[in-house]
Amino acid sequence: MKMIKLIHTGQPFVAEHELAYQAPLVQAAHDVLHGRTGAGNDYLGWLYLPSTFDREELRRLQETAKRLSDSASLLIVIGIGGSYLGARAALQFLRHSFTEYMPPTKREMQVVFAGHQMSSTYLADLMDILDQHEVAVNVISKSGTTTEPALAFRAIEAYMHKRYGATEAAKRIVATTDRERGALLTVARERGYETFVIPDDVGGRYSVLTPVGLLPLAVAGIDIDAMLAGALQAERDLAICDVEKNPAYAYAALRAILRQKGKAVEMLVSYEPGLHYFAEWWKQLFGESEGKDNKALYPSSADFSTDLHSLGQFVQEGSRVMFETVLKVAKPRRDLPIEAAPGDPDGLNYLAGKQWREVNDTALQATLLAHTAGGVPNILLEIPDMTAHTLGYLFYFFEISCAISGYMLGVNPFDQPGVEAYKTNMFALLGKPGYEAQRAALEATTLAGGR
Ligand code: PA5
Repeated sequence: MKMIKLIHTGQPFVAEHELAYQAPLVQAAHDVLHGRTGAGNDYLGWLYLPSTFDREELRRLQETAKRLSDSASLLIVIGIGGSYLGARAALQFLRHSFTEYMPPTKREMQVVFAGHQMSSTYLADLMDILDQHEVAVNVISKSGTTTEPALAFRAIEAYMHKRYGATEAAKRIVATTDRERGALLTVARERGYETFVIPDDVGGRYSVLTPVGLLPLAVAGIDIDAMLAGALQAERDLAICDVEKNPAYAYAALRAILRQKGKAVEMLVSYEPGLHYFAEWWKQLFGESEGKDNKALYPSSADFSTDLHSLGQFVQEGSRVMFETVLKVAKPRRDLPIEAAPGDPDGLNYLAGKQWREVNDTALQATLLAHTAGGVPNILLEIPDMTAHTLGYLFYFFEISCAISGYMLGVNPFDQPGVEAYKTNMFALLGKPGYEAQRAALEATTLAGGR
């Protein structure tokens, strides 16, 4: 049974026959993907990852996770982009909303992130809290040279050595990086840190189901076996090339149709705050996979009903550039009854006897009707619950729909050449050796601009 249901396909903006007309294009993308004949085909390691995961490596990963969680109360995860967002999304999706405020006896492993920006305030504030915890570190970088995590690791590693000494620090630091290359691997080997490998054929944004995501999640006590089982079910369910039977392919086709009708923005919307970082992960997946050659939908996100009170006006009546993809959770992790209040002072007794879930679902339904009437197509995807199994399924669902969507769009869904532009400028302006010519060119541009 498929775990993700496509409930609403964007009517009245997309007619039934339009989806059927996309079938040959979907078939072509499917053939290119599974036949490994398309652009970026050396980055398809994620496609069969759930069914081919090295069980011995998984056992080592779980042993390491146990060792770290036994010796630490705080895990610092250092990484950016694909080396960061998957774990962050999963933790928010799966954990208690206020885990850091639970009494110590009930508290789960605390996880904080670093190296995903270069704010001095953030890093200095993070350093302030470390002495109150026993600390473990997982530094993650496929290239091993990305500035943000490398710089954060330099500071946090120095703290670990000062506090614990070299031998104990080495037991508390684990690096996830390339098998053979990169400065992080060199450092890890020199200082005796345990390492896990990001497979060569898995790009950052497709790496959540590798040690990149799995190690920090296992340290945090997440059931990664269940996540992998969910992804495996998705791998099997979503291999079928039929837009009627494969919701991941239908979703890719609907995106293509709406783009061809002039939509420029897709907004991923959910009514569960636990999906906020999932949407961040999704934005990277689609933005970095498709945003090239001057085309593609701009992926954005919103948390409803919160953002209905900020962005709702724009969605209802602003420029008609967008469509929404709504992720509905059929069964929230928890539910509460709404009680009657004596005398009904706030006028809310008409809701008494209902569950909170019903009210939230009604907000979704009401918004979908209003936005559709306002000219905003809505695609509605339903997931059954917020468990690790469903999350594993959901990650794989969007990975494969993104690959199909990218091939339908005619781009290489697995490279990210445009990410280098800001890095080159930054290195030049910071005076990194080897970037002298770029620095001179930037200075000439600035002077010509008459600053
Ligand atoms: O998806 C990608 O490739 C990027 O987002 C990378 O994950 C990100 O730039 C971090 O790279 P690295 O893991 O090499 O530090």
